[in-house]
Amino acid sequence: QKLHLDLEQIEKGGFEHFMLKEIYEQPKSIHDTMRGRLLPEEGIIKMAGIWDHMEKFRNAKRIIIVACGTSWHAGLVGEYLIEEFARIPVEVEYASEFRYRNPIINKDDIVIAISQSGETADTLAALKLAKANGAFIYGICNVVGSSIARLTDAGSFTHAGPEIGVASTKAFTSQLTILTLIALKLGKHNGNLSNEKFMSLCYELESLPTKVEKALKTDALVQEISEVYKDAKNALYLGRGYNFPTALEGALKLKEISYIHAEGYPAAEMKHGPIALIDENMPVIVIAPKKGHYDKVVSNVQEIKARKGQIIAVVTEGDEQVKNIADHVIEIPDCSEEFSPILASIPLQLLSYHIAVMLDRNVDQPRNLAKSVTVE
Ligand code: G6P
Repeated sequence: QKLHLDLEQIEKGGFEHFMLKEIYEQPKSIHDTMRGRLLPEEGIIKMAGIWDHMEKFRNAKRIIIVACGTSWHAGLVGEYLIEEFARIPVEVEYASEFRYRNPIINKDDIVIAISQSGETADTLAALKLAKANGAFIYGICNVVGSSIARLTDAGSFTHAGPEIGVASTKAFTSQLTILTLIALKLGKHNGNLSNEKFMSLCYELESLPTKVEKALKTDALVQEISEVYKDAKNALYLGRGYNFPTALEGALKLKEISYIHAEGYPAAEMKHGPIALIDENMPVIVIAPKKGHYDKVVSNVQEIKARKGQIIAVVTEGDEQVKNIADHVIEIPDCSEEFSPILASIPLQLLSYHIAVMLDRNVDQPRNLAKSVTVE
């Protein structure tokens, strides 16, 4: 027993929980996802899984992404990335819905499964269905040798390293990284991305681990903010564009490990319902980086303040406008809109982590949840 505990301490590398260790590993895990693939000096992204099947991707009429949980959120960002950079239509489906609704699957569709474990029963079944209908199936998994990785025609591993905490953190940002690499590579090869744009995005991507490092420096501030809101009964997460999925993922993290009810919404949908919930007891976490619908988000922030909501805003460093209205601001480094979900997710992971610790929750093994859901 004692030996087991000691071993676990060693594995946690000095951190109190696996989740915190994994949050802090992200500069490295993102780097590992890009290692050997992103080669800006040579002007290329090397990914055999894509390159070997480039004709399939060039001719694809549509890409369908299937996933569950956090991986599904990564898929939503993937939709924005692939449509933006490669101009290929993308649909994102919950694997559980897809497999049971007699979906239309064509031979020139590509179905991409995203799964940290590579073992999620619904995702695996959705892929089998796609394969049986003649689609080309592609896997984005973290666990090498997993069932999904073995079933797929091709794929890319995220190489984030083992993730022990049930709440996914580093696997998520590595999924976003791999989807970015895929979208950029496809865009370059099908002529939708100019070489200049491709190159500048590649160089920016290379600097991302350093920016993640900076985003982690918000930890002490996020801890202070957590102290203020730890007893909240509800929380609302809002974002637009690329950061709508970030809002969903932020809310999921809070639910999973603190058991506080939280909802993520696209900020513009607020007026179609959630705004009715806003009063002085409702913390609203707004993801408002400078690039991408900033002015629209600012007016959403004003609407929340007018209803006395408590605003915690994730902004680009140096931001003034939101700072003047929000109750708390958390600054992340400046970056292209397409990369902002990765940076904005860091303080949201920390927020849920600290609140859960303060509430004395079982952070690494929350009640009722499993790391990998291998049964229906
Ligand atoms: C479970 C885990 C989540 C995960 C989801 C999908 O619900 O608790 O953290 O996002 O399964 O898992 P996968 O391994 O397919 O990414």
